[in-house]
Amino acid sequence: MSQSPPVPAPPVPGSGRAPAEVEVRPLTAADLPDLERMEAELFGPAAWSTQSLADEIVGPGRTYVGAAVGDGRLVGYAGLWFDGYDAQVMTVGTDSAYQGRGIARRMLTVLLDHARTVGADAVLLEVRVDNDPAMHLYDTLGFVRLGRRRAYYQPGDVDAWTMRLDLRAPAPATTPG
Ligand SMILES: CC(C)(COP(=O)(O)OP(=O)(O)OC[C@H]1O[C@@H](n2cnc3c(N)ncnc32)[C@H](O)[C@@H]1OP(=O)(O)O)[C@@H](O)C(=O)NCCC(=O)NCCS
Repeated sequence: MSQSPPVPAPPVPGSGRAPAEVEVRPLTAADLPDLERMEAELFGPAAWSTQSLADEIVGPGRTYVGAAVGDGRLVGYAGLWFDGYDAQVMTVGTDSAYQGRGIARRMLTVLLDHARTVGADAVLLEVRVDNDPAMHLYDTLGFVRLGRRRAYYQPGDVDAWTMRLDLRAPAPATTPG
């Protein structure tokens, strides 16, 4: 993904690991005010504009999902682009008040299932080398590092890892018992 947060989001004190009661659902244009709020909070100067967000969520090959809490408020969003061969994670973000509760993992799991369903061979992404929460998330979803792109993120000349999840690899064998 071409965005990067200004700094990795810090853990929210007391947020714990309690499962969040959220619904993961497709995004619509009605979600744009919530998206704009979270973009600005999570990505700072690198945030996509309202127009870019509006274009992106309906763009060709795009699939965007959001995580909504009980009152319908959006607290997370994630997007995927499938080009007919591979898929690319375009963005993922969770409202800082709801981080650390498994919301991003759930959204990405839905998108990875979608990528499998449409026949993608692999899923690719870029991530800032200093974004520990995101790196941990991608590592534990099975992504592997392909290489390091120098000064990929501006401003600041921050490097990115490119990562890939092979969807054609056989599922790991389970141990009986
Ligand atoms: C990265 C981000 C999307 C994770 O969202 P989240 O909803 O908090 O993620 P989850 O709760 O699903 O957690 C996924 C894993 O990351 C870990 N994690 C979450 N926040 C963390 C933190 N601040 N530090 C270290 N690990 C963290 C969790 O422990 C979890 O691992 P576990 O299941 O093994 O315990 C969120 O931090 C965010 O929005 N960051 C700002 C935007 C961003 O950086 N997007 C990614 C761009 S590549």
